[in-house]
This record gives sequence, structure tokens and C-alpha cells, in this order.
Amino acid sequence: EGVYVRIPASTANLGPGFDTLGMALSLYAWIGMKEADETAIRLYGNEMEGIPTDKNNLVYQVAQMAFREAGVHLPELEISMYSDIPLTRGLGSSASAIVGALYAANALIGSPLPDARLLDMATAIEDHPDNVGASLFGGFITAVWDGEHADYVRMEPHEDLEVLVVIPDFQLKTSEARKVLPEKIGRKDAVYNISRSSLLVAALAQGRLDLIGRAMSDRLHQPYRAGLVPGMAEILERAVEHGALGIALSGAGPTLLALVDRHSLRKKELESYLLNTMKAEGISASARW
Ligand code: HSE
Repeated sequence: EGVYVRIPASTANLGPGFDTLGMALSLYAWIGMKEADETAIRLYGNEMEGIPTDKNNLVYQVAQMAFREAGVHLPELEISMYSDIPLTRGLGSSASAIVGALYAANALIGSPLPDARLLDMATAIEDHPDNVGASLFGGFITAVWDGEHADYVRMEPHEDLEVLVVIPDFQLKTSEARKVLPEKIGRKDAVYNISRSSLLVAALAQGRLDLIGRAMSDRLHQPYRAGLVPGMAEILERAVEHGALGIALSGAGPTLLALVDRHSLRKKELESYLLNTMKAEGISASARW
């Protein structure tokens, strides 16, 4: 008895698709869950400092939401969690915990809740569907949230696409990175983003990798967040010259995400360029393919 699930990390926005586009990454968290006489929560791995191990634990709380939704009473749980996903870096660690908790809890009671309902519940917790959608379904996701329900389409990423993330060694809270965003933007910037976001989705759907660089451009959040991530402005401007197909801030940052042609001979060059540019700003970072 008991269930064990593996949940991917995710990158949100992909540049222009603020709160809308997401993609799963091959970086994972694992959650084990079973019914118990007394609740016990065990955390493994390096990224677990400060996470509660009592009933305040997010995975426990979210599991209870799934049980309530399904009309099941299961108050005592044994939960184990291991994660390789760095926290507060723009890689969707909280989304993966939420999705993992919902998915595991639902599976534990025979999966009465359909996946689309799990997405609605996860999005209601996160407030945007991009990270949770990618973590739940894998691959590339485009999703719209109306406050109650998410409409989404999942796509398989093109086989030539590879991802490089550069993870700075400082944390940036999503709430902080949302505070710097303006409440209103002008029509020109709105059109700028709609056009690029649409182009990006269409280009990814048809394998037009040549369009990705220009499509992954944004005026809705990245220009305002650039001040929070040293080196970011220069990297967004120049990474394509150093071999990236496209470049974006991953979610709310501070991680930067490059899409790369798997067959490119310039992968080392790109990785060095990204790390050196951050280093020149006094930021140490690690690269992960
Ligand atoms: N779309 C969100 C943002 C993702 O950019 O703020 C971060 O969780």
C-alpha cells in the first residue's frame, strides 16, 4: 500500500508567455505517501531547510485538500519527500510540491479526481497555471486561468530542443519579483507580447526553431525584473550571439533558461558565456543541461 510519485521541475513564461507558458524540466522531486496511525513527515536532500515536518507541511496540507475534494477522510499520513529542485530559484519547486501532493493523494484513494480538476486545484493555490501545468502534464504547456478553471493544451517539445539553465547561488522570492511589475502596461507593449507569445507557441508546434530567438522576447516582466538579477539584461541581449536558440528568465528568476539546438557545436561556448557574464557581476552560478 502507499504511492510514490516523481514530479518534474518547470520553467514558466519562456519570455513572452507571462503566467501562461510552461515547460517541464528533467530535474525532479519524489513524494511517497501512505495512510498511517500517526502523521510522520520525512524530508531528504539538500534543499529542505526550513520546511515544516508537522501538519503545517505543504504536501500534507495539499493532500488534505485533495481528500476533502474527493469526500474522503484520511487525516494521518506518512509522507516522505526528496527533491533535487533548488528552492526559490524560478524552477517551480513549490509547484512541484503542490502537484506531487495532489497527484499522490488522489492516487492513494484510487484517483477519483480527473487530472483537469487537479490542475484547477493546483492553479488556485499557485494563482497561475504555468508551473503547475508543466509539472502535472510534463512537456510544454500553454494554459489560461479564469480564476476557477484552467484551459490548457500540452505539446511534446521538439526533439532537437535542449535546455540549459544557469542557476545563480542566491534566492529570489516570486512575491518580490512580482512586486516590481507595473499594474498597467501600454497597448504597444501588450501587442509586443501577444505577438511574440503567439509566434513562440506556433513555432514550437511546427518545429520552426529558427523563430524561437526573436519570439522569446518580452516587455511585460523581464525588463522590470532585470534589476534583480545581475548580468540578466546583457545575457538576454547577447546569448543568441553565443549559440542559444532563445533565452529567458526562468519563471520569476533568478535562474536563466536557454533553449539550445541539441546538435549545436557551441554548447560549451554558450555555457561559458553565461557563467562568465554572471561572474563578472560577482554572481556565482551553476549550469545544468
Ligand atoms: N509566471 C510566474 C511569474 C512564475 O513570472 O511570476 C513564477 O512562479
